[in-house]
Amino acid sequence: MYKFLVTGGAGFNGGNFCHYMVNKYPDDVFVCLDALTYAGNMETLAPILDKPNFSFVHGNICDRELVFSLFEREKFDFVVNFAAESHVDRSIENPRIFLETNILGTQTLMDACRKYGIRRYHQVSTDEVYGDLPLDRPDLFFTEETPIRTSSPYSASKAGADLLVMAYHRTFGLPVTVSRCSNNYGPYHFPEKLIPLVIKKALADEPIPVYGNGANVRDWLHVHDHCTAIDCILRKGRDGEVYNIGGHNEKSNLEVVRTILHALGKPESLITFVKDRAGHDLRYAMDPTKIMTELGWKPQYTFETGIGPTIQWNLDHQDWLANIISGEYLRFMEKNYRRN
Ligand code: NAD
Ligand code: DAU
Repeated sequence: MYKFLVTGGAGFNGGNFCHYMVNKYPDDVFVCLDALTYAGNMETLAPILDKPNFSFVHGNICDRELVFSLFEREKFDFVVNFAAESHVDRSIENPRIFLETNILGTQTLMDACRKYGIRRYHQVSTDEVYGDLPLDRPDLFFTEETPIRTSSPYSASKAGADLLVMAYHRTFGLPVTVSRCSNNYGPYHFPEKLIPLVIKKALADEPIPVYGNGANVRDWLHVHDHCTAIDCILRKGRDGEVYNIGGHNEKSNLEVVRTILHALGKPESLITFVKDRAGHDLRYAMDPTKIMTELGWKPQYTFETGIGPTIQWNLDHQDWLANIISGEYLRFMEKNYRRN
């Protein structure tokens, strides 16, 4: 029996990970620590709240006293850190909170790991730490050796955290792993991000804001496959290693938007080109060879098999969507798209 701390479990990826792990490992125990920011919602955890191997703690990963007392009480075997400010557009509006949560929060968790002991600290990171690739070089992919070269305050904060995690491994011998995943989509995705935003707006027959000319490319991985990859790293990964996660599902933003509009039977005339995101990364594309060959992981979904069920999930869970939209979310959306 292992005890896990999952931070950020009331968000999109962390929530899906909690669902997956709590059901898959009934003999292990999972504690979720989440500050319930605008992006965190208890509604996301509702399906597992009554499971005997799951409990929720409301708190901030930057709160040293709370984090240390939680570690002292629970004696965790594994820590999986999903807690983060995750939206690039918000990091352009207000970088500070990104540095606090994403870097200092990570440090607080690792200090607690050092003090109380741990089998493994896992940092959930992103392909964005590698910067971007040119659109006219489809032969290029990010590997674990690609230099860190960030574009946004968000990606800089994630890269800062990754470097700190590796420094705690080298300097203090902390047993750590880092995963860098490409763009995720799937159930419980907060509707400020492209795919759930497009579904929400299309259903309401509202204009779909496409930044710039829509040619930017993202490498889409279903969130279920992100969860299985992290599980695999926790069980089989080597301390001090970075693992890229992706499934070679590159699509331009326009392709993604058109796919969703067609699936919903909505007209392409809803597409509205708006001012580009500042510093907008052109293309992400992951090389997942290391995790596939060393750890035997492989994704279950392609974009073509994953997008349909994701759209259907949104159609079936409009109550979830209605419940999570706070006043803060509405304020941000109003301000961000007015800027455009
Ligand atoms: P999200 O914004 O949906 O959820 C973040 C969660 O963290 C929320 O529940 C929020 O309440 C919580 N949180 C924020 N600040 C906190 C704090 N100080 N203390 C405790 N909890 C806090 O994010 P997401 O998209 O699920 O991303 C989760 C992680 O996965 C992030 O580290 C992100 O960098 C990484 N990631 C995301 C993607 C993606 O496509 N979404 C891809 C690769 C990596
Ligand atoms: O690559 C992993 C990253 O993916 C994660 O680390 C981030 O946490 C996650 O938010 C995501 O970052 P992106 O910036 O790629 O995702 P987003 O959904 O914000 O945007 C996807 C693409 O769509 C991007 O090129 C910008 C564009 N876009 C986005 C929005 C919200 C639009 O054209 N219009 C929009 O309204």
